[in-house]
Amino acid sequence: MRIVLLADLHGNRPATEAAEAALAALAPDDVWFLGDAVGKGPSNDFCCDWVRARCRHWVGGNWDYGVGGRQFPADGFYWRQLGEERLAWLRSLPREAELTFAGVRFRLLHGRPVTELLRVQSPADALEPLFRTERGDFGGVIFADSHRPFVRTLATGYILNTGSIGNSMGVPRAHFLLMEDQPLRMTVVSLPYDREAAVADALQAKDLPKREAYIHEIQTGIYSR
Ligand SMILES: [Fe+2]
Repeated sequence: MRIVLLADLHGNRPATEAAEAALAALAPDDVWFLGDAVGKGPSNDFCCDWVRARCRHWVGGNWDYGVGGRQFPADGFYWRQLGEERLAWLRSLPREAELTFAGVRFRLLHGRPVTELLRVQSPADALEPLFRTERGDFGGVIFADSHRPFVRTLATGYILNTGSIGNSMGVPRAHFLLMEDQPLRMTVVSLPYDREAAVADALQAKDLPKREAYIHEIQTGIYSR
């Protein structure tokens, strides 16, 4: 059994196409989406449709709810590109899910808006409360949102970050998690992709909000907004 968990496509079509090629080669048994298909990049309709077609399970991210719910007036570019049906789908996404894999019960969430932004270097004190909920205790937590992949162990269990397909911080490649059982393996998959094509896509989208920040982020992996 092998599954993929991915997130934070952020409207980046070339990065999503690199992920698609990797998934075709890996042929996982299941694919989970952990939020933020849209926002930041220029190809939100493509990424939204890809997530709906390619992933079997979905959790919403802060950008999905913000754009889908028309929360911010500056996001008109995304609303126009996505159209009402996709916006309604984004609004409808669940905020959490769970998965028992290789005997470990994992809690799955994007991060915000369920909890504050968690970073790769967040201390155990900030992460360990995520394992205890009114639905019981978890042996692992898998989340996204910080755009930096990692696999850590805490006194409470495993904590993993999917990293980002389309807007990676740190190393500007496309990242996702691959999990395999017998025995349990938790792997960060790192993919090069055509960043020049991603820049060209952004330059063609004249009304893309904070376009220069997005271009700088995908070129450098440095948060720029
Ligand atoms: Fe994100």
